[in-house]
Amino acid sequence: MQTETIDVKNILGLQLPTDPRWVDLTSISLEAILTDHAYCEQKAATTCISLIQRYSEYEELVKELAPVVTEEWGHFRAVLAELAKRNLRWGKQRKDLYVNELLLFQKKGGHVDDRFLDELLTMALIEARSCERFKRLSEGLKDDYLRKFYRMFMESEAGHYTLFITLAEHYLPKPKVRKRWKEWLEYEKQLMNTMEIRGDRIH
Ligand SMILES: [Fe+2]
Ligand SMILES: [Fe+2]
Repeated sequence: MQTETIDVKNILGLQLPTDPRWVDLTSISLEAILTDHAYCEQKAATTCISLIQRYSEYEELVKELAPVVTEEWGHFRAVLAELAKRNLRWGKQRKDLYVNELLLFQKKGGHVDDRFLDELLTMALIEARSCERFKRLSEGLKDDYLRKFYRMFMESEAGHYTLFITLAEHYLPKPKVRKRWKEWLEYEKQLMNTMEIRGDRIH
């Protein structure tokens, strides 16, 4: 993938770019942002495992998500190693307001297809926003090593975002996926508008 061409609005579909002040805020405590990042990677891995377990009859999903689990766990280990290298401690898990608010938008009842679609689109959205945040870090951090470190994550999460959309379109009609994705993007835009900008959170 040509990472130079990743454009937040056109490719990821996100409606609101991250406030430019966020990168500066993350520089206040590397320990805090790396701690939150490590949990994000861990949750990405466990959510993929959960999808594989609950949708075990969906062969394509299982085949595609199995290696993502390994990749996300690798990301988790990479962040842990970064903390250790810098003599920083991996702190306790914090409340993930962004993800909690996204979960509120998921359909809880109705047809199984609608719930399945929302689960995939939630993951696509988290991957897209993570990708955008990592892009900001890869461009805005002062430390050259960390800029490269975050560029690696940015490239990887861009691939995941695409994968979740592709999986949704594999199992469900494209117009249905597109329509619901637009609703998700609109919801996320409003969420981003209301959320406090915090330097100790990836989202
Ligand atoms: Fe990741
Ligand atoms: Fe990911």
